[in-house]
Amino acid sequence: VSLAERRCELPHDRGSTALVVVEEPAAIGSELLDWVEGRSLHVVTSRPILEMHGEEALGGLSRAARDWQVHEVPDGEAAKTPEVAGRLWHDLLAGGARRDSRVLTFGGGSVCDLGAFVAGTFMRGLALCHVPTTLLAQVDAAVGGKSALNLAAAKNVVGVFHHPERVVASTRLLATLPRRELAAGLVEAIKMAALLDLDLLAALERDLDDLLGGAGGPAWADIVAAAQRTKAGVVTRDPREAGERRVLNFGHTLGHALEVDLDFGVLPHGEAVAHGMRFALQLAEARGLDRGFAQRLEALLARLGIPPLPRPDTRNLLRVLQHDKKAGPEGVIWVLPTAPGRWEAARLPGDQVAAELEVFVARHCGAC
Ligand SMILES: NC(=O)c1ccc[n+]([C@@H]2O[C@H](COP(=O)([O-])OP(=O)(O)OC[C@H]3O[C@@H](n4cnc5c(N)ncnc54)[C@H](O)[C@@H]3O)[C@@H](O)[C@H]2O)c1
Repeated sequence: VSLAERRCELPHDRGSTALVVVEEPAAIGSELLDWVEGRSLHVVTSRPILEMHGEEALGGLSRAARDWQVHEVPDGEAAKTPEVAGRLWHDLLAGGARRDSRVLTFGGGSVCDLGAFVAGTFMRGLALCHVPTTLLAQVDAAVGGKSALNLAAAKNVVGVFHHPERVVASTRLLATLPRRELAAGLVEAIKMAALLDLDLLAALERDLDDLLGGAGGPAWADIVAAAQRTKAGVVTRDPREAGERRVLNFGHTLGHALEVDLDFGVLPHGEAVAHGMRFALQLAEARGLDRGFAQRLEALLARLGIPPLPRPDTRNLLRVLQHDKKAGPEGVIWVLPTAPGRWEAARLPGDQVAAELEVFVARHCGAC
């Protein structure tokens, strides 16, 4: 895999998604101009993102559209609720949206998930593009056609598949991202690299400190493009998560439960996934994963400087795990590494998970 290629196509049942990585925000306009020109555009975004980057990223496009309407939604995870989606449907209707109107999301993974859900359900589907502004959204959330809302008791349980026509990621937008959010995004890249792309894993190990220290530079575009290609490959081979796509849930089973238990928004999603990956490594070692590979991933995650895990309510966590989309009568399915670049989907009994969780919390929340 060449780290220099910054454009790829993700074919799917409705056509294909063009994935484009550019450095400067000014280049977003030329990638989307023909999609926007003379059209009625509905932009889903949140106020901080709009104020930080709206004009430089979308200013030219807004003047090219026939009708340009901005729909501000709550910032962060608070956007992903049925209430916000309902408000957005009403706003689209009131704003004159029709079958040929288009939806453009501008924000992190939360805005992508909400915007894609609303675009996928309003009038049975409006054309969609993403301009993702966080690292996590650029490498993961904007790619692959999944949309999602949360309910209070469970993460991402409401959603539809609705692929964007294009995803245009400008890495210079990442320069304003707080270091904590940058690290959270790198977790998703590490997740994919560890189980699917060992070249990318080596690149992340080599460049991590530079990446964390200089968000937005050329090295970022190569990393984002490589991670997108890796995810696009998995999604192409398994669009509906019947098999291989489950690999993307590495770290997400406990991660999602932590987000619910600690009330959405307390932990950035990527941080919750990092804790979930550590737990998955513990489960995997109990099933024979080589300690060397587990240590290698733990060392890389440690370099991200993620804050310690706040003490969760383990009884509640186990309850929440029962709502996991991958739960069945014989337990929850866990994505566990078996070797570098290899993994298994293992169904583990609840009592084993409960015992391992006690050990994990004692080990990682010792001082809290
Ligand atoms: N659909 C999928 O396949 C998929 C995959 C992975 C994750 N997700 C979802 O993505 C969500 C997490 O996304 P996220 O990590 O992007 O978080 P987020 O969208 O909640 O954004 C986090 C924060 O970053 C800020 N921000 C955004 N862009 C910025 C910029 N350029 N500079 C400064 N601040 C900026 C936002 O205002 C927000 O406060 C989760 O809900 C997760 O479930 C979805």
